[in-house]
Amino acid sequence: MTPTAFDWTKADTARARADTCAADQLIHLNNAGAALPPDMVVDAVVDHLRLEQRIGAYEAAEAARDEQRRVYEALAVLVGARPTEIALVDSATRAWIAAFSAIRFRPGQRILTCVSEYASNFIAYLQAAKRWDVRIQVLPNDETGTMSADVVAAALDDDVALVAATHVPTNSGVVAPVEEIGEVVRESPALYFVDACQSAGQLPVNVQAIGCDVLTATGRKFLRGPRGTGFLYVDPGRLAELEPVCADLHSASWVATHEYKLRDDAGRFELWENNVSTRLGLGAAAEYARAFGIEKCSSRIRELAHRLRDQLIMMPRIRVWDAGETLSGIVTFTADGWTPADLTHELRSRSKINIWHVGSDSALLDMSKRGLSSVARASVHYFNTEEEIDALAQALETLVLAQEG
Ligand SMILES: Cc1ncc(COP(=O)(O)O)c(C=O)c1O
Repeated sequence: MTPTAFDWTKADTARARADTCAADQLIHLNNAGAALPPDMVVDAVVDHLRLEQRIGAYEAAEAARDEQRRVYEALAVLVGARPTEIALVDSATRAWIAAFSAIRFRPGQRILTCVSEYASNFIAYLQAAKRWDVRIQVLPNDETGTMSADVVAAALDDDVALVAATHVPTNSGVVAPVEEIGEVVRESPALYFVDACQSAGQLPVNVQAIGCDVLTATGRKFLRGPRGTGFLYVDPGRLAELEPVCADLHSASWVATHEYKLRDDAGRFELWENNVSTRLGLGAAAEYARAFGIEKCSSRIRELAHRLRDQLIMMPRIRVWDAGETLSGIVTFTADGWTPADLTHELRSRSKINIWHVGSDSALLDMSKRGLSSVARASVHYFNTEEEIDALAQALETLVLAQEG
């Protein structure tokens, strides 16, 4: 049975807030930037650092071998994969670049991507265009507000090397139908990459249902993990095509003087040195999300975002920019008389409300198309309350009125 928002109870909010020590100190609506972590995530990081301090870092890593294994297991469960299909890296961008730079393009091949593509992903395509002589084809949004399966199907042919979809963009609340797109891409030889940076932790993400070859995500956003963490899923069936540009003695073995052998799992995209403590924090975050239940969290996030959008839409001199059939926990808007950056700073200093501002350079194509140089972004999480949403609406009204007067 699919849970509804009604499955989320006041007790769930109380539990989530009790586990989040900063929840009562401020109103955090910047979860698409970096969410407040649950206390156990911070404990996992700090406890391991303390262990390193007490017994030595190599020794601590050995002592935490089982816990490290469980990080892969927790992330695998979160996205419907096997632990060997997960690689741990330090950001979503690192994850994307690791897999993308491993593609051996043939000159003349095409990359199909979406209007709302994230800047760093697009920069990688531009580099590839220079290096491999490939073409980048930006597919239009359809009437649902995103790239759709039909649009992809119309553009797909044997010259397409890669279809890249963004599940939820950085600068708008819209959710792309990545499962439907996956069904279309599966019929072709193209690789299918999904950027789940803004969806992991706020929406159900299942690589089997999506049918992607690579999926990337970050730890610090809706997943509520530590900064400097990220991961990728790689379909083992496509590994042979993907030779990482950076490999070391962890990603590969030096088997003879002139010979190396890459790992035959997603670990080929990792390097040996890593921050064990933040990885353990990422694992704790994935386990915490699973304990709550992603479907349930997701319905709560949607409910709160809906409440915020409903209020902002009614407010004079505020314009909500989220457009699309399916919307997520990201609410974007502008307010007359305010730059999004000033609005962000003012809300923080006057009312202890954290939102963020996204510049056009993060998603240049989409922002230019809509004539936007920047938008304010409020991103809700399940630990937020109705009162917090109303407090933001109230604070915005006051600021807008102040500017008017
Ligand atoms: C849609 C999307 N993709 C990728 C990224 C990059 O994530 P990271 O900063 O972890 O590299 C972001 C960051 O905001 C994002 O919003």
